[in-house]
Amino acid sequence: MSYLDGTVFIDGRFVAARRARVSVFDRGLLYGDGLFETMRAYGGRVFGLQEHLSRLRGSAAALGFQVPERDWSATLQELLRRNGLAKRDAWVRLNLTRGSAAPDVLPPADAKPTVFVLVKPVPSGFSRAQREGVRVTLLDYSRHSFMPEHKSLNYLPTILGKVAAARKGAYEGLFVRDGRYLMEGTTSSVFAVRGRRLQTPPVAGILPGVTRRIISELTAGEGLQIVERDLTVAALRSADEVFLTSSVAEIVPVTRLDDRPIGGGRPGKITVAMQRRYRRYARRAVARQER
Ligand SMILES: Cc1ncc(COP(=O)(O)O)c(C=O)c1O
Repeated sequence: MSYLDGTVFIDGRFVAARRARVSVFDRGLLYGDGLFETMRAYGGRVFGLQEHLSRLRGSAAALGFQVPERDWSATLQELLRRNGLAKRDAWVRLNLTRGSAAPDVLPPADAKPTVFVLVKPVPSGFSRAQREGVRVTLLDYSRHSFMPEHKSLNYLPTILGKVAAARKGAYEGLFVRDGRYLMEGTTSSVFAVRGRRLQTPPVAGILPGVTRRIISELTAGEGLQIVERDLTVAALRSADEVFLTSSVAEIVPVTRLDDRPIGGGRPGKITVAMQRRYRRYARRAVARQER
């Protein structure tokens, strides 16, 4: 089945993906003037939807437009159902642009936002990455210099980072600031484990990951301590364990930095425990939505 065989939700309607269109005057296309959220659905229901919507609303407000109000939970459930994903885990991407307008850089005050949602099964490589761990590499730049807290459609740093990582045979590239400080992955947050402490870079200069926040909440019950502090490349190299987090890939152990093993070169115990804890928490949270 091709990605064009499904159904998308666009501007209030469910439309065959093959026929879904946005205007050539859409500011998301012309200027990257828009935002998005990528979420994971478990058995047809999106986990953390309210938190993702709240991040999106906050970013839209900062850019001077709004997320159209509707029953997003019901809309996404229906979209998943129409795509045969009611019982499976899925990738869900909610996209919002400032809308179409005459092609001037200065945005008009009254554009009507464009909203569309794409869904697909969770990419198959993720469960292997979760089980076996992955190799990462370093990128000598970061997103920190301009509004990194927003998930904007300006995705070039990420695309170029993914290309550079893939060329080196790595699953993920980690953005490094000032040649020294790890910030985040191109599409993930990063944690280093040392003893019972989980260190993650402070939120200033990175995307405030929803999964990162949930991990911080879950560690309390596990007798683990979260430390938000600048994470150097040297500290990463000598960590007991390292893992990446994101909504769709959940928790992915890092077992190599380029050719060098990290923490024995296998997924660490705390990482594996957190994977289980997180998965249980997410499944329970979506089960509660059904009542
Ligand atoms: C730059 C960046 N950091 C972190 C994340 C993880 O965020 P979340 O946990 O909200 O999915 C992402 C997700 O795509 C990202 O693009």
